[in-house]
Amino acid sequence: MSDSIRAVKISKRFGDVIALDDVSLTIDSGEIVAVLGENGSGKSTLAKIFYGIYTPDKGYIEISGKREVFSSPADAKRCGIVMVSQRPQLIDELTLLENVAVFLNKPVDKIYGDVNLLLKEFNVGIDAASPVYMLSYTEKQYVEMIKALLARPRLLIVDEATTYLPQPLKIKFFDLMKKIVMVNGSIIFITHKIPEALEFSSRIIVLRKGRVVGEFDGGVPLDELRKAMFGDTAAIQIARHIKKLSESELESTVLSINNVSVLDEYGKRAVEGVSLGIKQGEIVGVVGVAGNGQRELCEAIVGLRRIEKGQILFKGKDITYVSPNKRIAMGLCYIPEDPFRDGVFLNLTIAENLKIFSQRKIEKKALHNIINKLNITPAKPEIKLHKLSGGNVQKVALSRIFANIPRLIVAYNPTRMLDEYSSKLIISTLTRFASSGGSALLFLEDLDEALTMGDRIAVMVKGRIVGMYSSTAVDKSELEKVMTIYG
Ligand SMILES: Nc1ncnc2c1ncn2[C@@H]1O[C@H](COP(=O)(O)OP(=O)(O)O)[C@@H](O)[C@H]1O
Ligand SMILES: [Mg+2]
Repeated sequence: MSDSIRAVKISKRFGDVIALDDVSLTIDSGEIVAVLGENGSGKSTLAKIFYGIYTPDKGYIEISGKREVFSSPADAKRCGIVMVSQRPQLIDELTLLENVAVFLNKPVDKIYGDVNLLLKEFNVGIDAASPVYMLSYTEKQYVEMIKALLARPRLLIVDEATTYLPQPLKIKFFDLMKKIVMVNGSIIFITHKIPEALEFSSRIIVLRKGRVVGEFDGGVPLDELRKAMFGDTAAIQIARHIKKLSESELESTVLSINNVSVLDEYGKRAVEGVSLGIKQGEIVGVVGVAGNGQRELCEAIVGLRRIEKGQILFKGKDITYVSPNKRIAMGLCYIPEDPFRDGVFLNLTIAENLKIFSQRKIEKKALHNIINKLNITPAKPEIKLHKLSGGNVQKVALSRIFANIPRLIVAYNPTRMLDEYSSKLIISTLTRFASSGGSALLFLEDLDEALTMGDRIAVMVKGRIVGMYSSTAVDKSELEKVMTIYG
């Protein structure tokens, strides 16, 4: 079709890694095409070629029959291509509004109305005047989407950007995208989540190890997509492991949060009188719509945020004013929300990152062991992290579970960037950890995951825990109702 955008026989390699191998695809005007693939299958590399960040070794992009060479995103933008990626690309020091203005190259007062309209439409309660460095990962993604929507692109590439938005916002975003983009544009929707691909696209292209291995229409069975994505990788069974703990162990409280209040960056109370105990061998999931105090509570527990009122006990000791370092030494393992910002050193190798996590020398064998356990690819300790795909960077952040011997794991969306296979690996790692006597407090945006992993689930709304459920006695729709009831 003359009005289509095509990738033609594109290949791209990085050293001895072949990221894309002879990839061709066509997107017609008005179409939403999903590109589905496991972590490291080449999705982001393809997106970056469309957006002028990488140039292909072979092959080219064609727009309406015309061959284009992009040597920067500015070139791609001139042709109407905009990308929202899994990593927010914002200027931290500027406000939300200023970021949008810079991206659109328009004065602030010309876009003020439009930005506020979209903020209202999303109903996320962030102010256009907020400096971006104060926003959470999810909030930053809203800003990216606002940028993208207001640019009215001819091709919008969404690279894992919506994967972890709460479902109602995801639907809202897609509605808006359709309204704005589909007028005379199209969307490439990149994801590693099969249900998401099925829900939001009309055609699905599966990438595996840099190659197009299948093209499907919307009615394809889930299992067929899974097979195309992963080949015959044996399915990981997540068993609820039988806990081999004595009565007294099961009764012993590892973490006890007593009437804790925490302020946010503006001095506003973000956590209000939260009390919560976690027993040995127990996993507690904290769920809620993003921005209801989860981040502040999490940071307070690990020692990155001052507590305004209340007390935290870990293994019976008062740690309210104990430094993060000491907490780690006591057996608290923290896996932050955004591995790129807080979790790893991108300019160091896998081996170097692990050495820092463990603060001791790690034998070669142990290193390979950890890499294998988490299925980190490429499985090379000497590779620098900025060369890994997003999912694999997250796995390196998660490897701190193995770098020490934790008693309590506090994690924020630990599977955010992982494909189904890798997520299951992590979930089974965490449940096994709990079965052998470890405890975990997991802040989760994915309710299915919370229900799979958590023994109990706490719902946070406006800084308070408004409900506490046994995971066997509650379902997803009930949790969703409680999460939004006071909204
Ligand atoms: N800048 C780079 N340098 C070296 N290797 C890279 C670089 N970018 C991506 N790769 C490699 O290319 C492969 C595909 O990565 P990517 O496109 O990010 O995967 P996906 O987005 O599907 O998870 C991975 O093996 C990754 O390690
Ligand atoms: Mg990617």
